[in-house]
Amino acid sequence: MRKNIIAGNWKMNKTLAEATQFVAEVKNKIPATDQVEAIVCAPFPYLASLVEQAKGSNVKISAQNMHFEDNGAFTGEVSPVMLKDIGVSHVVLGHSERREYFAETDETVNKKAHAAFNHGLTPIICVGETLEQREANETKSLVGEQVRKALEGLSKDQVTQSIIAYEPIWAIGTGKTASSEDANEVCAHIRQVVKELTDAATAEAVIIQYGGSVKPSNVDELLAQSDIDGALVGGASLEADSFLQLVEAGA
Ligand code: G3P
Repeated sequence: MRKNIIAGNWKMNKTLAEATQFVAEVKNKIPATDQVEAIVCAPFPYLASLVEQAKGSNVKISAQNMHFEDNGAFTGEVSPVMLKDIGVSHVVLGHSERREYFAETDETVNKKAHAAFNHGLTPIICVGETLEQREANETKSLVGEQVRKALEGLSKDQVTQSIIAYEPIWAIGTGKTASSEDANEVCAHIRQVVKELTDAATAEAVIIQYGGSVKPSNVDELLAQSDIDGALVGGASLEADSFLQLVEAGA
């Protein structure tokens, strides 16, 4: 049975003091079970401090993005070498906000996925459709293509270690959560695409999260679905007690 991975994507929020307070409040309250994994995706400036603070706990610290080059003339960027150097374990790639505002593409997501594995980082690869694409019944074709391009060239083992986050864009930050059935249908399609790209064992093992207005009030129904293995959460992950409720739901 696959575990649930609950990742809180703080996006561009919190001060260092607030981030430190959050980790202090949650790090000793994560259920001690292999059934659930808790990840905090914090802004770059806080990562090193939070990694140190979370040491010895069940809280993992993730970046929200990274460049695919190891170093070079990329002003303002952060490399996988830097993330690994400070002990970050995961990195979110291809979030719809990066695709919309910062020219992230399927091709750069793929380069970053390879770079993540080259430096021992686990990628959380985001895919998802717009409302227009859903209404045009293009969800499965669009998301399937995003998955194929993101995973291109990765080994079966690397795909197995990957986390794929299905985040319908129209559900992000809107309070409009996809129905559990719809979310599960797309996650099942993603798993089928992974099976076609790799094999049945890899598809069965890969973690597929749902993201888009996940809250304590709807998380149980989502996690009860056959092909949903956790959540990538924005707004409801910003408060410690809410995040803990989500993690406990995954245990
Ligand atoms: O990456 C997770 C995020 O996009 C979802 O945001 O606020 O709808 O939970 P939210």
